[in-house]
Amino acid sequence: MLFNKIITLSLSPAADITCYVDSLKADQAHEVQTELYDAAGKAVDVSRVLRSYEIKNTALIVAGRENSERYFNRLRDENVETRVIYTEGRIRENLGFVTPDGKTTLFIRKGPRIKHQTIDELEKVLSDEVKPATLVVVAGLMPEGITDEIFCEICAFIQSCGGVIALDTRSATLENIRRIKPWVIKPNREELCALAGRQLNTLEDIKAAVKMLADAGCQHVLASFGAHGMIYTDGKVTYKADVPELSEIRSTIGAGDAALAGFIIAHDYKYDIKRSVRFAAAFGTASCLVEGTNPPRRISVAMINNQVSVYEI
Ligand SMILES: Nc1ncnc2c1ncn2[C@@H]1O[C@H](COP(=O)(O)OP(=O)(O)OP(=O)(O)O)[C@@H](O)[C@H]1O
Ligand SMILES: [Mg+2]
Repeated sequence: MLFNKIITLSLSPAADITCYVDSLKADQAHEVQTELYDAAGKAVDVSRVLRSYEIKNTALIVAGRENSERYFNRLRDENVETRVIYTEGRIRENLGFVTPDGKTTLFIRKGPRIKHQTIDELEKVLSDEVKPATLVVVAGLMPEGITDEIFCEICAFIQSCGGVIALDTRSATLENIRRIKPWVIKPNREELCALAGRQLNTLEDIKAAVKMLADAGCQHVLASFGAHGMIYTDGKVTYKADVPELSEIRSTIGAGDAALAGFIIAHDYKYDIKRSVRFAAAFGTASCLVEGTNPPRRISVAMINNQVSVYEI
C-alpha cells in the first residue's frame, strides 16, 4: 500500500538541550561553554528526517504552551509542518551535560499530564487529518494520563479513520501490539527483550522474538541493534543488515528514529523489502555522524548505503 499522507504523532515531545561544560562535579558551579537546542521527541525526529528528504508530512504535537515558542520556531526553521494541540505546562526538556571526555549526563524533566479534554481534542484533530491510506507514526513515550487502554483507543481511532500505524514506543506492551497490529514496528534490542520477556543472547533468540511480533500481527518488524545493524522479518522472510563500523560517532540519539524514517522513505520510493532494510540501516548509521538528533546528511546516507550488506538468515 502506498500512503497518500504521512502524520507523526507526538504525545510527549521533548526539547533536547545539550550543554558543553569543562567538568561536572557535585557541589560546584559550572559555566556552560556552548549550548545546543533541538526540537526533538521520537515522532518529531521522524518528521524532521522525512522533511529533509522532501517527503511531505505533518507533525501533530501535543505541547505544553509555556516553553513552546523556541520549540516551534526551531521546527519552522526546518520547514517542518506542524499542527499543535496546546496543554497547560511545559514541553518536556532533556538536559544533557557533555564533558570534554565526550560523556553525557542526562537530566530528563517531566512533561505535562494529559487531561481528558486534550484527548477529546486530539480525536477531533485526528478525524480531520487521518484519511484512508494515511500513515500515522506513533512514536515516543506515552505521557502521564495516557493509560494502555487510552493508547490502544487512540490507535484504534486512527485505524477507524482509515489510517495505518508505524509504531516505535517502549510504552507498548505485547498485548497492546496484538490489538494494534501495526504496519511496521521498530523496537531496539532493549525493547525487543522487554517484549519477549527475556534476554536475547543468540541470533536464534532474536529471530524467534521478531517472528513473535510478526505473529502478533505486525506486517513489518524492523528491529535495531545499534552498531550490530538490523534484523527484519515479515513473518516469511528474515533479513539481517550489517552496517559499517564508524570511526567517529557524534551522537547515537535518534538513530532508531532516522532508521524508521528511512524505511518509510524507501516505501515511498517503492523499493523492495531488501533494499528498504538496507536504506533504513543506512539512515540509522548516517545519523550517528551528526550532532544531537539532527537528520542524517543525504551524502552520508548514500555513501553508507553502499556499505550496508543485507542477507537472508
Ligand atoms: N554505533 C553505531 N554504529 C553504526 N551504526 C549505528 C550505531 N548505532 C546505531 N546505528 C544505526 O542506527 C540504527 C538504529 O540504532 P539503535 O538500535 O541504537 O536505535 P534506537 O535505540 O532505537 O535509537 P533511538 O531510540 O535513540 O532513536 C542501527 O540499526 C544502525 O543502523
Ligand atoms: Mg528507539
